[in-house]
Amino acid sequence: MNFASDNTARIAAPILAALERANCGPAPAYGNDPLTAALEQRFSALFEREVAVFLVATGTAANALALAHLSPPWGAVFCHERAHIATDECGAPEFFGDGLKLVGLPGQDGKLAPAALSAALASGRGPPHAVRPALLSLTQATECGTVYTLAEIAALTDIARRARMAVHMDGARFANAVAALGCSPADITWRAGVDVLAFGATKGGALGAEAIVFFDPERARDMDMRRMRAGQLLSKHRFAAAQFDAFLADDLWLDLARHANGAARRLAAGLTAAGLAPLWPVEANEVFVRVPSGLDARLKAAGALYYAWPEALDADSPARPDSSVIRLVSSFTTTDEEVDNFIQLIRMPG
Ligand SMILES: Cc1ncc(COP(=O)(O)O)c(C=O)c1O
Repeated sequence: MNFASDNTARIAAPILAALERANCGPAPAYGNDPLTAALEQRFSALFEREVAVFLVATGTAANALALAHLSPPWGAVFCHERAHIATDECGAPEFFGDGLKLVGLPGQDGKLAPAALSAALASGRGPPHAVRPALLSLTQATECGTVYTLAEIAALTDIARRARMAVHMDGARFANAVAALGCSPADITWRAGVDVLAFGATKGGALGAEAIVFFDPERARDMDMRRMRAGQLLSKHRFAAAQFDAFLADDLWLDLARHANGAARRLAAGLTAAGLAPLWPVEANEVFVRVPSGLDARLKAAGALYYAWPEALDADSPARPDSSVIRLVSSFTTTDEEVDNFIQLIRMPG
């Protein structure tokens, strides 16, 4: 019963097999290998246009370097107040962005509210006193396990466009969002106004590979320098490319994400039936639920693994002394049995 994180999962077998296949003989280093060239073509086909792609080792690096590339040091990056870039990246966006400013905004269910964005844009003192609006950052799927619809993305990017801001998408769980929406990756990104996507494979089944995808290759100029300067250009790049290639081949990324999303839905249904309705709609692979302290202790004693979620202690879910909010994350490895055992534990008389 491991619901600690999708990062705790093993490497998906087809990705491991691709690494094994790539592990023969020498190949040019630093991304000059044939696998990387083929992967670039695959990305362009997937997004139905020519894109510029830069692989890095972590989602934090993908986000921080993408934001730094599209914002000046005096730029404001508007994001949800729970956004991973604002709460969990140890200041990496500000560090790589030479001091750019993250501005956290409210919004229900982990989704940035258009009215909050408009209000923030209207309230600035203007240059040179206030930082200049440079970027809107959206997380898809969100940190609350919800998914922005196409219309919601378009409404927000429209505001950004009118304010001459670029749009970044943190897609550490992009696969889960696309699987949930059943739309094309193009529709939910550049066709909806997104300029750069941090596309994660690690949580979805890779060993460690994330892609920074620019939908206008012109805007990626000198990104190769920025990535190298940040120490994120892998010398044995073919192995990063091999991971992503296998992830995208034959829609593996979507199959794995559908499995993870299905497990989260099963968890949510079981919890709801047991009288513990999730805090936010379960649309991807994360479930947040408030549990009484006694039950929390019993679940842990039985070996269930998950994290308490301190960030949920706010207006959406005010703190209570006798209970806590926990986060349950499913992955491509989560089994029905694991979910059912967990629910059975919950239903057992305390
Ligand atoms: C929404 C989101 N973005 C970015 C990241 C960063 O990924 P990494 O841990 O690979 O730096 C995470 C990881 O938990 C995440 O949940």
